[in-house]
Amino acid sequence: MTTRESRQSETQQGRLEVREVQDPRDLDAIIAIRRAVFTDEQRLTDVVDRDPYDRGPGAVQVLARVDSRPVGVGRLHVWHGEGQIAWVAVLPPYRGAGVGWEVMSALLDAAERLGAERITLSAQTHAVDFYRRLGFRTVGDTFVMSAIEHITMVYERVYR
Ligand SMILES: CC(C)(COP(=O)(O)OP(=O)(O)OC[C@H]1O[C@@H](n2cnc3c(N)ncnc32)[C@H](O)[C@@H]1OP(=O)(O)O)[C@@H](O)C(=O)NCCC(=O)NCCS
Repeated sequence: MTTRESRQSETQQGRLEVREVQDPRDLDAIIAIRRAVFTDEQRLTDVVDRDPYDRGPGAVQVLARVDSRPVGVGRLHVWHGEGQIAWVAVLPPYRGAGVGWEVMSALLDAAERLGAERITLSAQTHAVDFYRRLGFRTVGDTFVMSAIEHITMVYERVYR
């Protein structure tokens, strides 16, 4: 699927809908999920709402809802054919049900639509296998941000 249509499926928790969003109220919901996961749960960062790549041309925000409740997020930014994915998170009670997969699939669809040949992200190392299943490969050595180990991962269409 390479359109902006929503992705819908049934999960054990309810009806999952994943779509690209732009409405400011949706952006508020996105920031709330980032804060719950990256600030409150992981203590990774307090700054979840001032990313310059969140807005403007090339920015795509994906929001997942289960029975209308916002539960998962991810952001793509494309610039000169290069994509960068960040802020991928699912609220704890909704993990392991395919929400993260659908968020990533929507971001990869958007990347294809916007002509990104290569997409990078900084993966927390616990999530490397999650991204590997989606077609990403690790590059270089691990590094530490806010006491959490990360590694760069790259997705190139030729490797898909
Ligand atoms: C990483 C995260 C986004 C995954 O979301 P999720 O909704 O739980 O993932 P899904 O249920 O869609 O899993 C998709 C597949 O990846 C696997 N998977 C999910 N998380 C994984 C992990 N941490 N390690 C290895 N495999 C994982 C699942 O088993 C599933 O495989 P399957 O289809 O063969 O069963 C979620 O755990 C999360 O928000 N973690 C906290 C925030 C975070 O670390 N974000 C990543 C920052 S780089």
